Amino acid sequence: NIKDYQVAALVMAIFLNGMTNQETTDLTLAMAQSGEILDLSTLKETIVDKHSTGGVGDKVSLVLLPLVSSLGVPVAKMSGRGLGFTGGTVDKLESIPGYQTTIEMNEFVKNVEEIGISMISQTLNLAPADKKLYALRDSISCVESIPLIASSIMSKKIASGAQKIVLDVTVGNGAFMKNREEARKLANTMIEIGKLAKRETVCILTNMDEPLGYAIGNALEVIEAVRFLKNDMPEDLKQVVLELGSYMMQLAGKGNDLEENKVKLLENIKNGEAYKKFIELVQKQGGDITYIENLDKLPKAKQIEPIYSPKDGYIQEMNSKEIGKLAGILGAGREQKEDVIDVSVGIVLAKKVTDKVKKNDILAYIHANDEKLVEVKKRLEKIIKISEKPVEKEKVVLEVIR
Ligand code: URA
Repeated sequence: NIKDYQVAALVMAIFLNGMTNQETTDLTLAMAQSGEILDLSTLKETIVDKHSTGGVGDKVSLVLLPLVSSLGVPVAKMSGRGLGFTGGTVDKLESIPGYQTTIEMNEFVKNVEEIGISMISQTLNLAPADKKLYALRDSISCVESIPLIASSIMSKKIASGAQKIVLDVTVGNGAFMKNREEARKLANTMIEIGKLAKRETVCILTNMDEPLGYAIGNALEVIEAVRFLKNDMPEDLKQVVLELGSYMMQLAGKGNDLEENKVKLLENIKNGEAYKKFIELVQKQGGDITYIENLDKLPKAKQIEPIYSPKDGYIQEMNSKEIGKLAGILGAGREQKEDVIDVSVGIVLAKKVTDKVKKNDILAYIHANDEKLVEVKKRLEKIIKISEKPVEKEKVVLEVIR
């Protein structure tokens, strides 16, 4: 009921002056209560939600959620679509033919009851005030304000019925927060909102300077996720999944000892239980599991073009924001909400930062369906930086704040 120009003035004032934790929590709860609130109390178990502040090659939900579900942590997850250079879980799930991301709420809850997991898109009218506020923030360049980002994320988590929340706060060029200091501030603000709103919240700061894992693009990330669930785990993705998973188990009351939880998570990858849960999820949501059992059936790009190392050395930098943008140019992402994406295209890295390379080694593959291949190839060759000296490995899981 408030005029846009008044809200724009409010937003600008918050952007310039910040807010106290109580003010930020009040805004969060007001936004959460501006639309429907999902009541998950019929599930009679603690619902722990997981959310990422966004990244490139971020297929964590696809892997982590079936995995924790296979250990008895109920998962009722509503995800978003990709926008800008970051991807979205819903787009990835929709690259599996038949998978329904927009089912009725009673079916969503029933699926969680019956098989312990459901993953869908945000079909409810969750926190509509946040949608309006976000659009206004965007139009007056006031998105990047910690109290506004924190309240935006937490309002949606609260409206989607989460009782406890594990947040993957990404840090680096491919994330909202470009450095650790800023990420810590965002994390602490969300934790304070959690305390005041009685939703226990744990934040895990993770590195997003290079893409997570090797694949960037929707069907390509599904392939990487399925292979992960079958015990073919890229090291960085493994570390993030185990860290987030161990806290999800703890918050859900399924194991207090974080190290023991990690052992159990790994066990359920190795014994096939996590993969089985993913198949169950896909089947329950109407997806055709033969595409998962035989990954070659998933949509494929017409051209797959390698790019080669120009010299001997070590991979120094693979800027995730730039790589995310290139995947977008190929058609894997959207600039506007209405844009249609191509699930088959993207980039698959063959190397990661610190890897040793020889001249003419393959650095990455571009999966393309049109002439954009030429431009993307030229740009990707420049984005991947190679140093003559060995490069030091940065940590993937940077710190945990709770
Ligand atoms: N993600 C959100 O949901 N809201 C923001 O403001 C920023 C990132």
